[in-house]
Amino acid sequence: MSEMDKPPTELKRRQVLGCMCALSFGISGIQTVTAQDEAALAPPQVNDLLGYAYGDKAGQAVSVNDLALQAKQTFVFAIDPATGMMRNGTRMHQLLLIRLDPAALAPATAQRSVNGLVAYSGVCSHTGCDVTDWNGEFNRFQCPCHESQFDPSDAARVVGGPAPWQLAALPLKDLDGMLAVAGEFEGRLGFQQPGLSPFGI
Ligand code: FES
Repeated sequence: MSEMDKPPTELKRRQVLGCMCALSFGISGIQTVTAQDEAALAPPQVNDLLGYAYGDKAGQAVSVNDLALQAKQTFVFAIDPATGMMRNGTRMHQLLLIRLDPAALAPATAQRSVNGLVAYSGVCSHTGCDVTDWNGEFNRFQCPCHESQFDPSDAARVVGGPAPWQLAALPLKDLDGMLAVAGEFEGRLGFQQPGLSPFGI
């Protein structure tokens, strides 16, 4: 019997079932993508690990012994330890990680650190550039756009340039030898003049 020969009720039933299956698969797919997107867009969560954002080690988790003392900052993102997913859905959650002399840290910064490792938002509070430069002479982060400088040993307070506020700090802890998130961002994320951002965000 051809399709044309089947009774209208049978064709209609199959069409309805087909639509329901398609709808079911469609909704399932949307839910999966949405859940992944939400996880990737979420800010760092307590017990997240930290992972290298770029380079040969991109995606690898950072240990508490990684990074040389006072070497240029490294960009990292949080990693969901349950799924291994990197929370890199937005650059607003990228982090600067650096190792400093623990004895040189201000008290509040020392409380957020592990073995001299400290982490801050990587987005400049002025117009949102990535804070990519390092002034090794004075141990300061430096923004390449308008040369704001931040002191990572003291809460990333502004020590030069037009940045209006310090970089938000992320508390860290040692989780079985791996660097992990101990709390939410402390301080203000984001930037002052989005209209001037070279990234259009
Ligand atoms: S965006 Fe960083 S100093 Fe202007």
